[in-house]
Amino acid sequence: MKKLKRIAILTGGGDCPGLNAVIRSIAKPAMASFGSTVIGVLDGFEGLVEGRMRELTPRDVGGIVNLGGTILGTSNKGDPFHFPVETPHGIDVLDYSDHAVRNYKDWELDALIAIGGDGTMHIVDKFTDLGLNFIGVPKTIDNDLSATDVTFGYDSAVTVATEAIDRLHTTASSHHRVMVVEVMGRYAGWIALGAGLAGGADVVLIPEIPFRWDKVYEHVLKRSKHGSRFSIICVAEGAKPSEGDMVVREQDKKRTDPIRLGGIGELVGKKIMEETGLETRVTVLGHLQRGGSPTPFDRILASRFGAMALELAAQEKFGHMVSLRGTEIVAVPVKEAILKLRTVPVDSQLLFVARAVGTEFGE
Ligand code: F6P
Repeated sequence: MKKLKRIAILTGGGDCPGLNAVIRSIAKPAMASFGSTVIGVLDGFEGLVEGRMRELTPRDVGGIVNLGGTILGTSNKGDPFHFPVETPHGIDVLDYSDHAVRNYKDWELDALIAIGGDGTMHIVDKFTDLGLNFIGVPKTIDNDLSATDVTFGYDSAVTVATEAIDRLHTTASSHHRVMVVEVMGRYAGWIALGAGLAGGADVVLIPEIPFRWDKVYEHVLKRSKHGSRFSIICVAEGAKPSEGDMVVREQDKKRTDPIRLGGIGELVGKKIMEETGLETRVTVLGHLQRGGSPTPFDRILASRFGAMALELAAQEKFGHMVSLRGTEIVAVPVKEAILKLRTVPVDSQLLFVARAVGTEFGE
């Protein structure tokens, strides 16, 4: 395939189980069937701006299907169009996209497959508009990317969070406590809802449904008096009370999304102790949800995404992203994927099911 002589792979944004499975399923057929030279861009778009890339060998991409993280490294700070540059007066955010374009050309790339979430897809779209041959692969544990039914990484994160809820049940029921578990999910509550349903959490708090404190207190008190004498509350990091805001841990203007969340779990635990007198403990799962081996589901989905992304590149369907629609992998325009975040719809069937089994959302 003359057109795919040199193909690059980049992983952008937060790491996520399944990234290496994608890299492998692009690189193996690219090398073996297309005879391409495969180049790994190091540390996401930072590496593209700074020209940090290297040729990958078959050995690099063998035996990595089960490996968490990314062999290429990643970064959520290197948006080439808003590139953070240290100056004597602090950090300036500058447009360094011309550096990235120059490196793309210097390395004589025929195509670049970028694996990432919403931030990465916005960048893919901009480079496509500049005439570069980009293909997108949707990744995020938050599962909040539009135009695909699911992103890889989500299943692995929900598996970790579900196991955590299962384990927390032991102490909750033995000590008759309220156990709060904070999971990831910035603007979308898919992880909290999925793990809450799978783990049988009693209360699930998600960004899409601002919650009322009194409803939460009422529910845990009722359970403590007339129910199982314990409660499990699964709260997404982006959940917020109806009269209040998300709990922001810090702002970092180097990041593609400057807001770093965290702390809502502590707040929920503290308020429940104060207002109900029930003994409460808080667990924050944090990056445990992003670490370790991908589940078989994610390995398979990631492999399908990778191999199909290479096909899209071969067909010159640039500016497209691979996507799971039903049971098929299809191509969707990246512009469609970045129109809006895929949050939990208020009329979602999953919410209906969770409510049907008695889950409280603090409404
Ligand atoms: O978007 C994925 C995600 O894991 C979010 O759920 C979370 O808020 C964020 O990344 C954490 O990012 P970092 O690892 O940079 O703190």
